[in-house]
Amino acid sequence: MPLIIAPSLLSADFSSLKSQIELIDSAGADWHHLDVMDGRFVPNITFGPLIVKTVRRLTDKPLDVHLMIIQPEKYIPAFRSAGADWITVHCETVDDLPALSNMIRTSGAKPGLSLNPETALEKVTPYLKLFDLVLIMSVHPGFGGQVFIPDSLKKVSALNDLRHSQKLDFLISIDGGINPSNARAIHQAGADILVAGSSIYHAPEPAAALKNLRAAALNSKI
Ligand code: DX5
Ligand code: ZN
Repeated sequence: MPLIIAPSLLSADFSSLKSQIELIDSAGADWHHLDVMDGRFVPNITFGPLIVKTVRRLTDKPLDVHLMIIQPEKYIPAFRSAGADWITVHCETVDDLPALSNMIRTSGAKPGLSLNPETALEKVTPYLKLFDLVLIMSVHPGFGGQVFIPDSLKKVSALNDLRHSQKLDFLISIDGGINPSNARAIHQAGADILVAGSSIYHAPEPAAALKNLRAAALNSKI
């Protein structure tokens, strides 16, 4: 099973964005995860297309843009033009999921769908076939550095079962509180993508932390 490590830029040192991205790229990051927050859907504000465009100039790796914003349909073209390869929206913010998936795909990006911890999988089951990635939030969205909500593991397992029973091939991503002590169980439960912010960027040696996270998830040596 493939493993994609996607460090979340939210925990990076923005005064040294270029060297932080270079460090994480050379340590073997697969993707960069970029958290966009609007102060409406979540109680925090981060950045918009300008920073996505800046990161786009600093790396060739896929940019995984996680939109924690209301009315995401207004901003899909701007994030795609800025260089997003993946655009993930929250099901809680969208009335017409087929239209939004279509809009993202037409823009040239790959569509992802995210669920808050309190949102049941049943709410999105009919729409899974329309998305290339499903992101399970394992903390309440809005801030880095929170503790992993244990029930998220069951949600990943249930989603993995649905993926098999419905013969679908979307990627399963998990976001929030991921570290070397829980990465193995989460990957084994079916998560292909581990998003990790503070456990990588706030570590004394982020490059070593990334390698350590991958080794822990795969139960292999560094
Ligand atoms: C939280 C964001 C996450 C966050 C994860 O709302 O979606 O991507 O950066 O940070 P950690 O890994 O520190 O929980
Ligand atoms: Zn995120």
